[in-house]
Amino acid sequence: PKPSGPTGADLDGALDPDALRQTGDVLTTAGGVRLPDTDHSLKAGERGPTLLEDFHLREKITHFDHERIPERVVHARGAAAHGVFEAYGNVKDLTRAAFLQRGAVTPVFTRFSTVLGSRGSADTVRDTRGFATKFYTDEGTFDLVGNNMPVFFIQDGIKFPDIIHAAKPHPDREIPQAQSAHDTFWDFVSLHTEATHHVFWNMSDRGIPRSYRTMEGFGVHTFRLVNARAETSLVKFHWKPVAGVHSLVWEEAQIAAGVDPDFHRRDLFDGIEAGAPLEYELGIQVMPDDGTDTFEGIDLLDPTKLVPEELCPVQRIGKLTLDRNPTNFFAEVEQVAFHTAHLVPGIESTNDPLLQARNFSYLDTQLSRLGGPNFTQIPINRPHAPVNDMLRDGMHQTAVHTGVAPYRPNSLDGGLPAVADFAEGGYVNVPRPVEGSVVRANPVSFDDHFTQAALFYRSLTPLEQAHVAEAFTFELGKCYEQSVKERELAVLANVDAQLCEQVAAGLGLRAPQGTPPVLDDVSPALSQIVTESGPVA
Ligand code: HEM
Repeated sequence: PKPSGPTGADLDGALDPDALRQTGDVLTTAGGVRLPDTDHSLKAGERGPTLLEDFHLREKITHFDHERIPERVVHARGAAAHGVFEAYGNVKDLTRAAFLQRGAVTPVFTRFSTVLGSRGSADTVRDTRGFATKFYTDEGTFDLVGNNMPVFFIQDGIKFPDIIHAAKPHPDREIPQAQSAHDTFWDFVSLHTEATHHVFWNMSDRGIPRSYRTMEGFGVHTFRLVNARAETSLVKFHWKPVAGVHSLVWEEAQIAAGVDPDFHRRDLFDGIEAGAPLEYELGIQVMPDDGTDTFEGIDLLDPTKLVPEELCPVQRIGKLTLDRNPTNFFAEVEQVAFHTAHLVPGIESTNDPLLQARNFSYLDTQLSRLGGPNFTQIPINRPHAPVNDMLRDGMHQTAVHTGVAPYRPNSLDGGLPAVADFAEGGYVNVPRPVEGSVVRANPVSFDDHFTQAALFYRSLTPLEQAHVAEAFTFELGKCYEQSVKERELAVLANVDAQLCEQVAAGLGLRAPQGTPPVLDDVSPALSQIVTESGPVA
């Protein structure tokens, strides 16, 4: 049977870039009817009532009434830019991902964000920053949905709603907007002490970056690389800013939040306009995939742990240049949809329980944020590789599918033989054995909550350490509940006694006793790093 009605080819005009940009010379209705006037509604006489018959008035007002979509449940405040990624590393033996092979050039779109504030909040608050990049590769879309800190608050995604509920503004008074200065946040992190390492990064200067162009980025989780021979290795992704890592000091951050709440967004947009692109190098830490999912005693499936560069150097394999501003903030920055499960052949997930939950969460949340299942057809989300899926219909469907048999194999639309569709070079998961009893439990290695926080703190210079003490004092000083402050002091006592004393003194409380980790006991490799000193990341 032949499809009836207009074919995809007839409707190509609807996808032509000028039609998408709506650049016609005359004003029209959404239906393309030319308009002589858009300032006066149709009335029964100059002083008379407005007529229901005025289709232009009704369309204009109705569309306006529905202009807003839900803001992202986290990372609502963000700004973004287009650019290119140029691969220059020799990774052939590590991964078959084509966009990572030396010489490949891939268009990208990167969105930076804060996590907690709403869309209109200030840029320079103390918070983690999102650093999400969409690579429009020839083999499909790859998203690296990272942060500017290498670790996360929780080890299992099932706690994500809980940490976010604790960190977002209090449900009763809706304050504070975007800072960690409140009771529920400190209540959560002092009770879920796995958060300690990330909290230390937040309280350090990393929590108040000077600019998006001076932030590092981290994929956080361990991913699996697969080469053409189906050999695998484990990898952590890093973005290294060419401009170096720079932060504000707290007073600057506070002043900027008042004087120019758009400080980072303005720097991004104006910098690009002025011909100063943002530049980062992509780095990888590569570790053997020997079946243990550990490296030098560090559990690679625990997203609260990093692998110090001293133990596993970062190899630089490509360069990201962001040099083009979006044309329309809503169309591009608001509607872009990142997803950790947007993977291309050569890159796989691991069993990190936080990553596993994220692989579910992003698609799910975007179904409601972007109004149904067809948001990959929105221009900013369209893959730059040919799409031929069997997904059909749904809200906001813009594809005009032809044929009658969206299933394989079929004998009606040339769908035989079955395997022909599954092109060579397609995404094939490397076979891996899975075993174990069904349990709700973490491995024992996940119980170590303080070693790496101590490692991070001890790696800082005295000035940076002083900033950490001041930040803890300021933020905890905003808590109403004394018991919450005391419990967090007990956490600090388990990381560094002197820091705990400083913060306790600042809060006018007594410092509790703790047992800071002796790194020698935990890992000789880690203690070696601290004695040699130098930044850890
Ligand atoms: C959004 C990073 C953990 C759920 C984002 C964004 C980034 C990000 C960068 C902003 C994307 C954008 O710019 O549009 C991270 C990192 C995590 C993490 C690095 C941990 C290592 C999680 C977890 C969950 C989650 C565990 C849920 C289980 C979400 C949701 C959004 C989001 C629902 C909003 C997405 C949207 O509306 O488009 N995350 N996230 N995230 N994240 Fe995460």
